[in-house]
Amino acid sequence: MTKHFAFTILPLLYFVGLSQSYTHASTHEIALSFFEPLPAVMQGAEQDSAVLIELGKKLYFETALSINHSQSCNSCHNLNNGAAGVDHLPVSIGALASIGDRNAPTTWNAGLHVAQFWDGRVKTLTQQAKLPIFNAKEMAMTSESQVIERLYNQGYLAAFKRAFSKQLLPINIENIAHALAAFQRTLISKDRFDDYLTGDKGAINQSEKEGLRVFIEKGCVACHNGALLGGQLFMKMGIVHPYPNKKDKGKAQVTGNPADNYFFKVPSLRNILNTAPYFHDGAASTIEQAIEDTAWHQLGIKLNTQEVKAIKAFFNTLNNQKVAFPEQR
Ligand code: HEC
Ligand code: HEC
Repeated sequence: MTKHFAFTILPLLYFVGLSQSYTHASTHEIALSFFEPLPAVMQGAEQDSAVLIELGKKLYFETALSINHSQSCNSCHNLNNGAAGVDHLPVSIGALASIGDRNAPTTWNAGLHVAQFWDGRVKTLTQQAKLPIFNAKEMAMTSESQVIERLYNQGYLAAFKRAFSKQLLPINIENIAHALAAFQRTLISKDRFDDYLTGDKGAINQSEKEGLRVFIEKGCVACHNGALLGGQLFMKMGIVHPYPNKKDKGKAQVTGNPADNYFFKVPSLRNILNTAPYFHDGAASTIEQAIEDTAWHQLGIKLNTQEVKAIKAFFNTLNNQKVAFPEQR
């Protein structure tokens, strides 16, 4: 793996070096070779009707989807008042107060990831949405009929009939998942880095630009690139220096292949300053610690205070300017 990694990262760094010393490429040009703006629409959203999205939004906040009516999706992926789609806990706590295994990632932009969950065990938002409802450590419902009955009693039939007009029995788990996914497909963030990438070079200030250069030159871009600055590949946590927490084997728990030990989805860094704590186990409580730790574990380097500060300044340009639904809540 280290070998494979070297093949990936070395050409990238070589390219950066070349761009800087020989062609004097601007920061903007170099940035455009690694990053791209977020798309305006998520794949699969073309067919999402307004009534389907509306239903999905309602379900996202529906506490009747948890065994003791205590928890909705929003409890762990909070979108209220411009929140970042997380719970700010190291690991999530379920409806029945059980302590979960992992840190809750944000639902913002999740549909743009190559797969869902830290270990990528399902591909799409629709496949994902069914799981928390029946997960004993999350919403803890015990059967599909129980979920259907709950929603029926909450008066959901009319809304499901509107969203799935051709179906005789529209309240079912497939349709619940479809609606939840449709709503989440609207969660595409927007930040100053997008404005910068699309051509407004003044959208980010000088110290943020310096931070962007540090982020690129140190090699963070080898894994955190593209529109999400992550979300597209799986990498071993501890590729250079082993990660101390060995409990969670990540992707290997799905594939059963020891070669996948400690592989996790490279997280997106969009809106990263607002989603603490960090890592799959929530072990890094501050962004400074997360930056230092990844530099050490993933690149084998120790960053000085100035470099950490610079990268943090760059992250400031990734703060989401959009709210989930300005018209209510
Ligand atoms: C008890 C807290 C909790 C509840 C309730 C909950 N989630 Fe999550 N969610 C998590 C955690 C923790 C993960 C990461 C689990 C993992 O990777 O194994 C996650 C992962 C996800 C992801 C994957 C994101 C990514 O980047 O990989 C999506 C999407 C998601 N949840 C949506 C939902 C929806 C929709 C609901 C409601 C039906 C919901 N969640 C309910 C805690 C929760
Ligand atoms: C070899 C690939 C790789 C490189 C290089 C890399 N990272 Fe990461 N990064 C990851 C992976 C994988 C994770 C998730 C690790 C985990 O949770 O166990 C991660 C997590 C993070 C997180 C926490 C995100 C969250 O939501 O919890 C931050 C912040 C971060 N990286 C920043 C950086 C910075 C800054 C650099 C450069 C100094 C860097 N990364 C270099 C792969 C990489």
